[in-house]
Amino acid sequence: MIYTEIKGTGSYVPSRVLTNEDMSKIVDTNDEWIVSRTGIKERHVVTDEYTIDLAEHASKKALEDANVDPKDVDLVIVATVTPDNAFPGIAQLLQKRLGLNEVMCFDVNAACSGFLYVLNIADKMIKSGAYKTALIVGAETLTRLTDWSDRNTCVLFGDAAGAMVIGTSETNKIKDVICGSKSDDEGMLICKGVDTKDPHVNAVSTQDHIHMNGREVFKFATRIMPQTIKDLMERNNMELDDLNYIVAHQANARIIDKAARDLKYPMDKMFMNIQKYGNTSAASVPLAIDEAIKEKKLKKGDLFATVAFGGGFTWGGALIEL
Ligand code: ACO
Repeated sequence: MIYTEIKGTGSYVPSRVLTNEDMSKIVDTNDEWIVSRTGIKERHVVTDEYTIDLAEHASKKALEDANVDPKDVDLVIVATVTPDNAFPGIAQLLQKRLGLNEVMCFDVNAACSGFLYVLNIADKMIKSGAYKTALIVGAETLTRLTDWSDRNTCVLFGDAAGAMVIGTSETNKIKDVICGSKSDDEGMLICKGVDTKDPHVNAVSTQDHIHMNGREVFKFATRIMPQTIKDLMERNNMELDDLNYIVAHQANARIIDKAARDLKYPMDKMFMNIQKYGNTSAASVPLAIDEAIKEKKLKKGDLFATVAFGGGFTWGGALIEL
C-alpha cells in the first residue's frame, strides 16, 4: 500500500488591495453591507500580473517549504478557470518557469472546488505507484472575469494562488479525498467565456462575465459543505471531535458559519481568512491551508478536513493528517 502526505505549502497574493471603501467608489455599495453579508473587508487584485505569475510565486514557496528539488517533481496539476491562454496551460508555463523536467503537466477546471479535484487526482496517481512527487496548484485571476458594474458579484472576488507539494509517505497522512458534481444546467453560476460560436461572422469576440444567482448558490453551498464533511467522517469511521480544524472554501463567512452550526462544530475551529482576500476560487483552499499552517493553527500531527464547493456545480473534501 502506497501512502501520501503534504510535503510543503506556499501561497501568493498580488500587492494591490481594494478595500470595501474602494469598492463603494466603483459600484453602489458600502462596507457595512459587504461585511455583514459576506465577511469580506478587502481583496487583492492583479494589475500587471497574470495567473502564471501568481502560480509561479506560490509554487516556488511550496517547493522551498517542502525542500524538494524541482527536478524531483514528476507531476504538475493546476486548478484554474482563469488560464492565461486556451493553450498552453498554466501547468506547462509553470514547467518552464520552475525548470522542471519533461513531466506530465495539465490544468483542471472545476471552479472553486478545483484544488480538491487536483488533490484527488494527484493523490490517486501517486497511490497508483506511477508518480512520486506532485506539485498541485490553485491559481486564479477571477477579477478578469468580474463584471465591475455588477454590485451583486464584483464585491465578492479576489486574485491569489496557493500551491502544495504532495508525495509518498511512510504513514497514511492524506487519508481520503472525495469529489462530486451536479450539472448546473440552469446556469445559476456561469461564465460563458469568449464567444467563439460563430467566429467567422463575429469578427470581434467578446469575453463574458460571471453571472450568479446568489441565493441559489448559497442554498447549494450550505447543503453540500456539511454533507461532504459528514461523508468524510462516516467513510473513515471518525467523529467531528477527532478533527483539530476545518479549512473550508472561503466564499462567504455566512456560508462557513451556517455549515459550522449545521454540523454543531465550533466556529473557532473553522479557519477564516475571507476578510483579507474575498473569494479567490481555486486558490482559496490552498491559500487557507498555507496560512493556517504558517499561523500555527495547524501543526504537525493535527488532523483536519478541508471542503469546497463551486461552479459546475462541483464539490470536494479531504481528510488529512499534517
Ligand atoms: N451592496 C449593496 N447592496 C447589494 C449588493 C452590494 N454589493 N449586492 C446586492 N445588493 C442588494 C441587492 O440588490 C438586494 O437589494 P433588493 O432587496 O433591493 O433587491 C439586496 O442587497 C439583497 O440581496 P440578496 O441577493 O438577497 O443578498 P444576500 O443576503 O443573498 O447576499 C450574496 C448576497 C452575498 C451574494 C449571497 O447570496 C451569497 O454569498 N451567495 C453565494 C455566493 C457564492 O458563494 N458564490 C460562489 C462563487 S464561486 C465560483 O465557483 C466562481
